[in-house]
Amino acid sequence: MSINSINSKSLIRLENILIIGNGGRENSLAWVIQKNELVKKVYLIPGNAGSERIKKCVRLKIDINNKDELVEKLNILKIDLIVIGPEIPLADGLADFLRKKHFKVFGPGKDGAKLEYSKSWAKEFMQNANIPTANFWKVNSLEEANEIIHSSSRPLVVKADGLASGKGVFVPNSKDECSRAAESIFNGKFGDSGNVVVLEEKIQGPEVSVFALCDGNKYVLLPTAQDHKRLNEGDKGPNTGGMGAYSPAPLLTKDYLDRIIKEIIEPTIDQLNKQNINYRGVIYFGLMITESGPKVIEYNCRFGDPECQTIMPLMDQNFVFLLEKCSMGNLTGDEKIDTSGKVSGCVIATSRGYPNAYKTGFPIKIGNIESDDCQIFDSGTSLSLDGELLTDGGRVLSIVCQDKDYDMVFEKVYENLKQIKFEGIYFRNDIGHQVRKSPSKEN
Ligand code: AMP
Ligand code: GLY
Repeated sequence: MSINSINSKSLIRLENILIIGNGGRENSLAWVIQKNELVKKVYLIPGNAGSERIKKCVRLKIDINNKDELVEKLNILKIDLIVIGPEIPLADGLADFLRKKHFKVFGPGKDGAKLEYSKSWAKEFMQNANIPTANFWKVNSLEEANEIIHSSSRPLVVKADGLASGKGVFVPNSKDECSRAAESIFNGKFGDSGNVVVLEEKIQGPEVSVFALCDGNKYVLLPTAQDHKRLNEGDKGPNTGGMGAYSPAPLLTKDYLDRIIKEIIEPTIDQLNKQNINYRGVIYFGLMITESGPKVIEYNCRFGDPECQTIMPLMDQNFVFLLEKCSMGNLTGDEKIDTSGKVSGCVIATSRGYPNAYKTGFPIKIGNIESDDCQIFDSGTSLSLDGELLTDGGRVLSIVCQDKDYDMVFEKVYENLKQIKFEGIYFRNDIGHQVRKSPSKEN
């Protein structure tokens, strides 16, 4: 990647960077940020076992909810830039708090994070700005929901309004299922996140992820990506946080992306401005490409996981400058990202049972991994007392490779996966099936 309009050796101080979060996403951010020669240390709160294998990275044991301790420690460490990974601290207003304490922060304030933490608010926001999205109804009781479900002639999707760790969306097959989903949400399946329910018209088409780094006014687009949300091959089975991804998404041609910019991205940023929201962070546009054009399925106020692990290796050491510029409201808007013709792919190795119950604590053996343009970012791992790497989550490792085309990329990814062993390892063999000439079933 080369990013023009960036004064790389400018007067900015970027020696000590802090990343908040503990997933593969945050490890991939740390990995690309540490590449910059100005950066001396990348601190992660809390990070995971894999963070310790990344150069310049140090994990900190601090409770981010203990605000006094946090600020004191960040001042002692002379933190120059803070990147907040997950949605929960953003929704809790951590970015606002840290900005008030004079830190540079990449991540929206509570007002901007509402794009993700209230689906009904986001739908009204889109309605006000004429941004294409599925028709919707905001409902406050099961009776209200049932009235709409039973009078609707079209299939509906049911969503808890608030944050639900990616589990608050139901795509039912019948009116009865639809009603049961609404009932489970109103009965407290997601706590207060389910006090309000959004019913949406079910739309159809492939899904793509588009990421805009915003400085409150201007924006830069990252390469697009395609996630694989379903657990099983052939895009079957339950929804997960994401089983693999590739970037860029060839489905989005230049012309189509221009249409998305005009119909969705710029109207979103204009509407944020109209509502006096100074959004300094990434907007993740979850889009569906329908017969009648692109529509927003959801906004997120953070990078996608595993899209982030997939995209970061396409960035060069200048990436951290973009984050800093966003935090300061200093983008020129002319910054261009050039991936030198490389493409990237990622497969997630999970614990059997995920996204439902699974066991953790199994030793992970990593054999000889091809290292040229390949990375392993730990998603859910920990270390035993004697330093052995153990599984510690549903999504355990992100295996990522880059090359000139997707067949080469996924050949390397799946070769590397043969070198990774832990009890109950499960991964999809068909990640990238949309872009590979011959996705092999025997990998
Ligand atoms: P979300 O957590 O909002 O990304 O939703 C999870 C998944 O549910 C999406 O990736 C879509 O596959 C599906 N989904 C959400 N909204 C709709 C909709 N209006 N129509 C069809 N599918 C949807
Ligand atoms: N890749 C899906 C998500 O991060 O929500």
